[in-house]
Amino acid sequence: MEALLRSLHFLLALFISLKHLALAQEIHQFICHGFTGANLSLNGMASVHPNGLLELTNTSKQQIGHAFFPFPFHFESSFSNNSRSLSFSTNFVFAMVPETPTRGGHGIAFTISPSTEFKGATATQYLGLFNSTTVGLSSNHLLAIELDAVRSPEFRDIGDNHVGIDVNNLTSIQSAPASYFSEHEGGNETLQLTSGDPMQVWIDYDEMEKLLNVTLAPASVMKPQKPLLSTPINLSLVVLESMYVGFSSSTGSVSSHHYILGWSFNKSGQAQSLEISKLPSLPHEKSSANKPDLRIMIPFVTVSFFLIACFATTYLMRKRYEEVHEDWEQQYGPQRFRYKDLHKATKGFKDKGLLGYGGDFGLAKFHDHGSTPHTTNVVGTIGYLAPEITITGKPTTCSDVFSFGTFMLEVACGRKPVESERQPEEVVLVEWVFECWKRGAILGTADPRLEGNYVEEEMELVLKLGLLCTHGTPAARPSMRQGMQYLDGNATLPDLPLHDAGTGLVPASNEASRVHVLTIPASPDGISSYSLSDSESILGGR
Ligand SMILES: *[C@@H]1O[C@H](CO)[C@@H](O)[C@H](O)[C@H]1NC(C)=O
Ligand SMILES: *[C@@H]1O[C@H](CO)[C@@H](O)[C@H](O)[C@H]1NC(C)=O
Ligand SMILES: *[C@@H]1O[C@H](CO)[C@@H](O)[C@H](O)[C@H]1NC(C)=O
Ligand SMILES: *[C@@H]1O[C@H](CO)[C@@H](O)[C@H](O)[C@H]1NC(C)=O
Ligand SMILES: *[C@@H]1O[C@H](CO)[C@@H](O)[C@H](O)[C@H]1NC(C)=O
Ligand SMILES: *[C@@H]1O[C@H](CO)[C@@H](O)[C@H](O)[C@H]1NC(C)=O
Ligand SMILES: *[C@@H]1O[C@H](CO)[C@@H](O)[C@H](O)[C@H]1NC(C)=O
Ligand SMILES: *[C@@H]1O[C@H](CO)[C@@H](O)[C@H](O)[C@H]1NC(C)=O
Ligand SMILES: *[C@@H]1O[C@H](CO)[C@@H](O)[C@H](O)[C@H]1NC(C)=O
Ligand SMILES: *[C@@H]1O[C@H](CO)[C@@H](O)[C@H](O)[C@H]1NC(C)=O
Repeated sequence: MEALLRSLHFLLALFISLKHLALAQEIHQFICHGFTGANLSLNGMASVHPNGLLELTNTSKQQIGHAFFPFPFHFESSFSNNSRSLSFSTNFVFAMVPETPTRGGHGIAFTISPSTEFKGATATQYLGLFNSTTVGLSSNHLLAIELDAVRSPEFRDIGDNHVGIDVNNLTSIQSAPASYFSEHEGGNETLQLTSGDPMQVWIDYDEMEKLLNVTLAPASVMKPQKPLLSTPINLSLVVLESMYVGFSSSTGSVSSHHYILGWSFNKSGQAQSLEISKLPSLPHEKSSANKPDLRIMIPFVTVSFFLIACFATTYLMRKRYEEVHEDWEQQYGPQRFRYKDLHKATKGFKDKGLLGYGGDFGLAKFHDHGSTPHTTNVVGTIGYLAPEITITGKPTTCSDVFSFGTFMLEVACGRKPVESERQPEEVVLVEWVFECWKRGAILGTADPRLEGNYVEEEMELVLKLGLLCTHGTPAARPSMRQGMQYLDGNATLPDLPLHDAGTGLVPASNEASRVHVLTIPASPDGISSYSLSDSESILGGR
């Protein structure tokens, strides 16, 4: 009885194992719309998203992803008399979503191989299938259809957007730029593998014909009548009896998300067509729906350009009339005609609109302070103030000429009117230039940063005119109009009146101004305002 039961158990176990074996052998075909529950053999970066989308690689650099059907298929070679045993048919939908638009890589390879392990395989141009030692070895027994987005010269790639048939080697036995034959257009249409759009590939091998066909098309298009590649090949020299089918993918220094959306495989006939509507969708961010539509883009760009142009014009017009207010004006209020008003009154500073000529240039300004009747405020930049202002407290056209003279010397000599850290004889610019002129070495005061790159006559003219304008006697200074004529070369500069009636050139060396210049604390920007009563100015000066 026990023996009977034991033998029954054995028979039952044998039956079950035989049935299991039969089931495993019976697998000749499958079709997957998404890979949830497909039990794919995954490796490296490969993963299946919750919606069934198979991601072979993400955009991490130098990575490999493998995804293979978990059971091998039987590719019985010619000693079997089943003439269709080597034939197969497959089609799949993939998408390459590059890291930066149209610049992705490295690629995806549909692979038939004896194992799901690729020992020592490397990323980048080896597509996760080989390394530099194993590539090309006939012992690989490997067939791959590569979708390659990077040109690798060492494998004689025809470009950076091609489909190729590889046997044990990454130098394709045949390849073509990614394109498809469109019946509608009656010609070839180019496809960009890394466009991010889903595309379908059909691979068919017929053992009788010994012809391997590869066909590519956008996912939404029916299988084109003409294959992209059609290569005569005897697969019995390549494949072994038991072979795995799947995908290998790699990234390099450029990368893409490499996705497989659906896959159908058949060893006993034509692979069923995939129903595109049943496929999982790609992650939203980079889907083709986000690609800008030119019909929207062109009006958008035009309107944007127009608006930018309008804003720029308005801004420039405002800028043109923009008034630069100096600090002291905030305290005393603006003392000027508005630029805008002048622009209007002179019709854009046309010669016909000339309001007058001559007249810093009033740097020295006279202001009635109001609150203390006997006090006047002199506002100006230290060093530009004519000496007589410290006594009279009244700016005149002559004192403006003095300021202009100081300004000319400042520009020509490349230094401030007063620089207390200099040698005593150089502290006051006007005095220093005057002393140098007396020694016949006026050019020695020219800005050393010019490195002598100036016309000596012009430099001398500016320096001498500067001295003349800063003459200690207001009446000896030229008018503004004369000054301009000297500069334009329309009048000859008179000899400097050194021996003139005893006054001589005593410009800013006037003790009164010197004392004020050195005792009044300057604000950080060099502009000072200070009060002088009539008595103070005399007491302070002498
Ligand atoms: C790619 O996936 C791996 C593993 O899931 C992750 O560590 C890595 O950060 C991902 N890379 C990018 C660029 O998202
Ligand atoms: C899933 O595949 C592995 C091999 O990758 C296999 O060992 C396992 O039995 C499979 N599981 C199912 C439920 O098919
Ligand atoms: C092989 O073919 C021969 C003749 O066509 C047939 O008799 C034999 O049964 C076949 N063998 C197998 C294993 O199919
Ligand atoms: C390539 O892979 C094989 C097998 O793992 C290994 O023996 C060989 O050293 C590898 N070659 C290189 C260059 O990594
Ligand atoms: C790979 O194929 C190319 C072209 O057929 C050939 O020149 C090269 O020698 C092959 N590589 C190896 C390792 O056999
Ligand atoms: C391969 O393509 C050629 C040319 O279009 C065709 O004659 C042949 O039947 C095709 N073979 C298969 C297996 O699709
Ligand atoms: C279309 O492409 C195929 C494969 O690259 C090529 O053989 C064929 O000549 C091309 N046809 C035309 C009209 O360009
Ligand atoms: C294909 O290869 C097998 C094995 O080497 C050989 O027996 C057969 O004759 C080959 N067929 C052709 C058409 O070359
Ligand atoms: C495989 O081919 C057979 C015969 O043409 C067909 O009946 C079956 O539906 C196909 N299966 C798949 C998954 O393509
Ligand atoms: C200087 O003379 C030229 C012609 O010689 C003349 O065009 C220019 O207006 C004059 N400049 C002045 C400021 O008079």
